Amino acid sequence: MLNIALFGPPGAGKGTQAARLVERYHLHYVSSGDLLREEIQEGTDIGRAVQEIIARGGLVSDEMIVRLLEKTIRKIREQTPARGFLFDGFPRTFVQAYILEGLLLKMHSSLMNLFSLEVPPEVCTERLLGRAQVSGRSDDTREVIEVRLREYAEKTAPVLGFYQEKGILVPVDGTRSVDGVFDQITRVVDESLRKVQLNVVVLGAPGSGRSTQAKRIAAQYNLHYINTTDLLREVATRPDAQGRMVAELMEQDALVPDEIVIRAVEGYIRSHPEKNGLIFKGFPRTLVQAYILDGLMRKIGQRVSCILDLRVPTLELFRRLSARGATQRALPYDRATEGIVRRIEAHERHAPDILNYFQRSRRLHVVDGLGTPDEVFQRMTAHLEEVQRHAR
Ligand code: AP5
Ligand code: MG
Repeated sequence: MLNIALFGPPGAGKGTQAARLVERYHLHYVSSGDLLREEIQEGTDIGRAVQEIIARGGLVSDEMIVRLLEKTIRKIREQTPARGFLFDGFPRTFVQAYILEGLLLKMHSSLMNLFSLEVPPEVCTERLLGRAQVSGRSDDTREVIEVRLREYAEKTAPVLGFYQEKGILVPVDGTRSVDGVFDQITRVVDESLRKVQLNVVVLGAPGSGRSTQAKRIAAQYNLHYINTTDLLREVATRPDAQGRMVAELMEQDALVPDEIVIRAVEGYIRSHPEKNGLIFKGFPRTLVQAYILDGLMRKIGQRVSCILDLRVPTLELFRRLSARGATQRALPYDRATEGIVRRIEAHERHAPDILNYFQRSRRLHVVDGLGTPDEVFQRMTAHLEEVQRHAR
């Protein structure tokens, strides 16, 4: 999960940046200020209790905040999936910093970065008085702004020490343009994302257990399982010329042009941003596609973290595929020895170049594919754990 927080005095631009970050990274937005204002508007118990405190510019009690956040997070998680959370205006006290640790722990996650937007008080005041013309906020008056800035300096700013110690504090020059501030933040988030995303390629001959293992890994690590054959089958159902061409090629068991494969993979990745990474099966199939995959990942600010190559002796592959040929799960080529030979040969023709390509970048892990599915799965996850440890 990608969880970040925006910190800074009133008027620093937290809300402004939050709107753009939420869209770019597909995050759930949690603004304690907005939540409190909603409670006031709806006239709830919490709303009535905090109305006056906010109008004065003071801080609402930690207890009230934790109750509100718990409720909100529970509700949000039942709704649409997202990649993580963006916290705006929270935590504001030491107690709240610990509360956030606990809330995230409950979700088996943690805060990746806390961005502190640094803006001098006089600039904040000027901005907020500007915003007052349109905001309709009870606390956007000169006297209350002064109190809010004082509260920030006394109670909230010291919380920065907590995050400095944790090593995840990122100071940002908040006096730059909105775009300038956004650039500073996204550069750091993109870099951190590269480290935490787990993007895996599973290689191996037909019958080596790629699909079985890749699907299990996808479930365990919350990754998107990307099977290019499935993606292309979807393209083949489209009623346009390209769809018809792909359908024909697939029927003849011929390779689909790389441009179409790339577009299908990129389209899928861009429209499904909410998981912890990707796991590819059946891609790359050629050396050209190995280059393409690295290029594609770079374009979207990602990288392939590791390649798992499942090794199974050829005789055993035959045994497995012929056995599958006699079951309901048979693929068309499993049924005749000729089909199996053709598949294994095609794999052997391309595999050395692909392995050589990935070997050079030291991301290749060879995994013994013999044994029960559980045994193989354990070997594979041992490699992934190691990759994740190194990434941190
Ligand atoms: P909250 O709603 O969080 O308000 P705040 O912290 O005072 O911050 P603001 O929303 O006023 O400013 P912002 O940093 O979001 O700036 P914005 O992007 O709008 O909290 C309100 C109250 O609720 C608190 O006082 C407290 O009582 C209570 N509360 C909330 N959370 C709490 C908690 N966790 N614990 C206890 N109490 C809590 O930008 C401001 C203006 O500047 C805009 O007009 C914008 O267009 C402009 N601007 C933004 N960026 C730039 C830029 N780079 N250059 C030029 N102009 C810019
Ligand atoms: Mg705000």
